[in-house]
Amino acid sequence: MEYLQKIYDNNNLNKEELIGFMKSLNSENSNKLFEAANKTRKKYYGNKVYMRGLIEFSNICRNNCLYCGLRASNTKVKRYRLTTNEILECCEEGYRLGYRTFVLQSGEDMWYTKEILVDLIKKVKEKFPDVALTLSIGERPYNEYESFFKSGADRFLLRHETASKKLYEKLHPDMLFEDRVDCLNNLKEIGYQVGAGFMVGLPDQGYEELAEDLIFLKNLEPDMIGIGPFIPHSATPMGNEQGGTIDKTLIMIALVRLLVPDVLLPATTAMGTLNPQGRELALKAGANVVMSNISPISVRDKYQLYENKICIDDEASKYSGYIEKRINAAGFILDTTRGDSIKYLCLK
Ligand code: 5AD
Ligand code: SF4
Repeated sequence: MEYLQKIYDNNNLNKEELIGFMKSLNSENSNKLFEAANKTRKKYYGNKVYMRGLIEFSNICRNNCLYCGLRASNTKVKRYRLTTNEILECCEEGYRLGYRTFVLQSGEDMWYTKEILVDLIKKVKEKFPDVALTLSIGERPYNEYESFFKSGADRFLLRHETASKKLYEKLHPDMLFEDRVDCLNNLKEIGYQVGAGFMVGLPDQGYEELAEDLIFLKNLEPDMIGIGPFIPHSATPMGNEQGGTIDKTLIMIALVRLLVPDVLLPATTAMGTLNPQGRELALKAGANVVMSNISPISVRDKYQLYENKICIDDEASKYSGYIEKRINAAGFILDTTRGDSIKYLCLK
């Protein structure tokens, strides 16, 4: 395990070393990796787990990502859009329950113009000035990103999905990997706390491609990194593919913690969907964020990027107590502050 010592000490490994390390890992020795990642997380963030309230405000999307249940060509989904007032109501309920970060997520739905979103962002921040607002709405022009930031948006999530240009463009018809990278760089330049991330277990994704994801993230140095297993959705062209495993995803989470030690790293819903203990396992492998759904229950079953998504009918109020118990049982403490990335706090 010389690679483990090296990545723990230096927060770095080159591509060949990463591939060698990944190849050497199995169910017996990966526990050592998880322990090292957990120790690194503790060094930077202690035992804290940050909570985010997720509002899925529209499931309408112009894109056709081959893996996603919300792709434009999927006619089986009942589409919905929440109004500004409905979104504000979710925020109110979320605030009452103690959430101090709201994540506004949607497909790439251009019905929400720059003006509509600017108005929404201003209203949220006016009503809840002590809350961090995160957008996860896909690719937009520079000037829109800039207006949203100036209106009060603090953070932006835009997963790179895969750092292999070839695989990216196979999975995303009519999208370019360069555009994705441009968007991420624009968001950073504007001043957002930026989140990138990728799926594990995509077809044609081998050690080489995974190492590219890790190196991409190491170079980008985002504030947040979302990693989850690919889960095939039957109403997509990838419905019969294999899908990612918990074990491999845990390894990637731990490697990311070691390479980008100060990152905010969620234990994703996709992990909890594959395994009832998936999110706890992710926390123990270096993750330190949990997102809970505070969208209206009536729309939750319509926001299925993948099938059998968990927590579709949990009342937000009951759920927040329940998740805290689970976080405590896993040995962590819930932190209900905004939970900014320490890199951002140091630069401020
Ligand atoms: N399985 C797992 N994750 C998915 N996403 C979209 N579809 C799937 C799927 N079938 C992820 C993408 C996207 C995020 C919001 O959800 O990485 O960026
Ligand atoms: Fe749209 Fe996002 Fe799904 Fe792609 S992953 S189809 S951009 S909702």
